[in-house]
Amino acid sequence: MKKIAVLTGGGDCPGLNAVLRSLVLTLEGAGGPEVVGLCDAYHGLLEDPPRVMHLDGKTVDGILVEGGTILGTSNSGDPFSWNDGEDRGDFVLKRLKALGVGGLVSIGGDGSTAIAAELQQRGLPVICVPKTIDNDVHGTDVTFGFDSAVHCATEALDRLQTTGESHRRVMVLETMGRDAGWIALASGIAGGADVILLPEVPFSYDRVVAKILEERVRGLSYNLVVVAEGAAEEGKGPIYRDPKHRRLGGVGAVVARQIEQLAGIETRATILGHLQRGGSPSPGDRVLATTFGCAAAHCVLENRWDVLVGMNDSQVHYVPLDQVAGKVRMVPDDHPLMQTAQSLGICLG
Ligand code: F6P
Repeated sequence: MKKIAVLTGGGDCPGLNAVLRSLVLTLEGAGGPEVVGLCDAYHGLLEDPPRVMHLDGKTVDGILVEGGTILGTSNSGDPFSWNDGEDRGDFVLKRLKALGVGGLVSIGGDGSTAIAAELQQRGLPVICVPKTIDNDVHGTDVTFGFDSAVHCATEALDRLQTTGESHRRVMVLETMGRDAGWIALASGIAGGADVILLPEVPFSYDRVVAKILEERVRGLSYNLVVVAEGAAEEGKGPIYRDPKHRRLGGVGAVVARQIEQLAGIETRATILGHLQRGGSPSPGDRVLATTFGCAAAHCVLENRWDVLVGMNDSQVHYVPLDQVAGKVRMVPDDHPLMQTAQSLGICLG
């Protein structure tokens, strides 16, 4: 194979550039195939003329520490359901062939992995590299971007603690994560939250308020409540700020209002939003992303295709794509972090 393509798909996260850098440097160092970057995921490829970027050691110089992605990305460009639902999958394959591309490295979350798996079904050799702040990709214990997001949410909690304490308030922080509660759980533990509400565990206001009042009786003058954007009250569904496109958001304000009413304690809500996705990757994410990029490059060099590069128990491993595509990794009840939270008496809903 003389040329491969690489793209970054879905919502961005810190560490994407680190993967691009290590993929390109490893392939270049080993005399491997040329690398062409597809701009804005599949959008650039489907334009006339296609928007692509030649990647070499020079182009990736210095990008390790940069957030975002030099290629651009999109979370609204499924080639199998383009614009009004048109299937442009075969056109993607044709375009890649015309560019002389023999295989694709897709750096993305569950949506991008499902698209890559479909392209693979239609004959394109692919390698997937899991990214997302949500940490919800099946087949890997961890995705890069997650650690940086947890740092951001934990710092926010530290700041909310001092102002909450001064005003004797309940401070509610809404985190991202879509249908999985990994960011809320990890940052809630790291930030010393009293209550952590996850999409995986439907919550009751009675239990939440009981925990807050219990802490006040114990002498705590403030409370920290972390709510994952996908968390929902028992018997109810999650709250969408844009139901048509299934964009979550707003549960933090609703929870804060209810707590204030039921507990009679002044309460404020903060939505952390895209701050969790921006900025420079944490050192941990730089290492993980760099490791994933090298592993993907070695797959190319060894002609090992149609896999997702994952990390379990600190070991890189390769999972066949058909075992991971279309699956989301939620927080299991018996996960060690859940047990830690329970042992600490944190209210999980
Ligand atoms: O999947 C990453 C993520 O940041 C989710 O946590 C969040 O629900 C979603 O993307 C937000 O997407 P957008 O950037 O389209 O608002």
